[in-house]
Amino acid sequence: MTFARIVATGSALPERVVTNADLEKIVDTSDEWIRTRTGIRERHVAADGETTGDLAFRAGQQALADAGVKASDLDMVILGTTTPDIVFPATACLIQDRLGANGCMAFDVNAACSGFVYALGVANNFVRTGQVKRALVMGAETLTRMVDWSERETCVLFGDGAGAVVLEASDEPGILATCLHADGGYKDLLYNPVGVSVGFTDEKNHGVRIKMRGREVFKIAVKTFDALVGETLAAAGMQESDVDWLIPHQANLRIIEATAKRLGMSMDRVIVTVDKHANTSSGSVPLALDAAVRSGRVKRGQNLLLEAFGGGFTWASAMLRY
Ligand code: UT7
Repeated sequence: MTFARIVATGSALPERVVTNADLEKIVDTSDEWIRTRTGIRERHVAADGETTGDLAFRAGQQALADAGVKASDLDMVILGTTTPDIVFPATACLIQDRLGANGCMAFDVNAACSGFVYALGVANNFVRTGQVKRALVMGAETLTRMVDWSERETCVLFGDGAGAVVLEASDEPGILATCLHADGGYKDLLYNPVGVSVGFTDEKNHGVRIKMRGREVFKIAVKTFDALVGETLAAAGMQESDVDWLIPHQANLRIIEATAKRLGMSMDRVIVTVDKHANTSSGSVPLALDAAVRSGRVKRGQNLLLEAFGGGFTWASAMLRY
């Protein structure tokens, strides 16, 4: 049987770090509120002119170098993002050209914060059916571009960043199961109302802004992860005790702790980067994965459970042997 295996990871963050103390100076908030409600201490913010594609390109380059794979050997370049550089071409096409992988398929997946795990699920199926031998799968965002810096409810939550993996066809187990879901009935709880077809100006709110009913999103996210964990374990034929590392979407430490509890896992088996990165949407899971790999915590042969939840609502998971 052919599996899709992660052979290397990469990541990239903007240089500029904005701490909670910095935000105290621009909105009525406090480091204490942000830390206790979310677990966030700081976030990276893209410089003027620095794009999602720039960050994903750097993450992709690093993953390819670590994999020892030439860009010209890729059959697929796929990017999870909800903040593309331009409307079209897809940011994956822009990155493909910069890498020198011209000719292979390249496209973006917009599944909000679940974008990377969705992209991984799509790539996995292409590899398993033999259509793709090597894929570069990325998740990247510059979400701070659509944050209202005068709205304390949202501006403290988000950051920018990118992560990437190189997937290769292998006889050895790699991705064991993926579960992808969406329910557009929840579209009004987390969204950005502007866009090509409806028009780029949200006149009532003066711009391109994330809107979120945080408390409701929180409750549904916790319940959804609870069910998703059970579904993913069943799909992979595994038990809670088989999971070596949980690598969750990094939106809120309290949501992450609830999922760890459901799995009966202590927090030292959970990769947490929300304190340093805040919520980077599609960037969050691959950034956390890369941090875990580079720090030596995640080792070859271990079982990883990746999961994400975001606007749509979308939610997705992957169980894999690293
Ligand atoms: O990535 C996609 C998925 N997104 C998520 O998973 C996010 C899910 N939601 C959350 O993480 C949390 O709901 C938030 C972190 C957004 C908010 O935490 P909360 O514990 O649900 O707070 P809340 O919205 O219920 O607000 C509590 C209080 C309110 O004041 P009152 O009404 O109690 O007087 C807010 O006005 O905290 C106030 N508040 C703040 N205070 C200081 C809201 N934002 C801030 C702030 N600083 N930045």
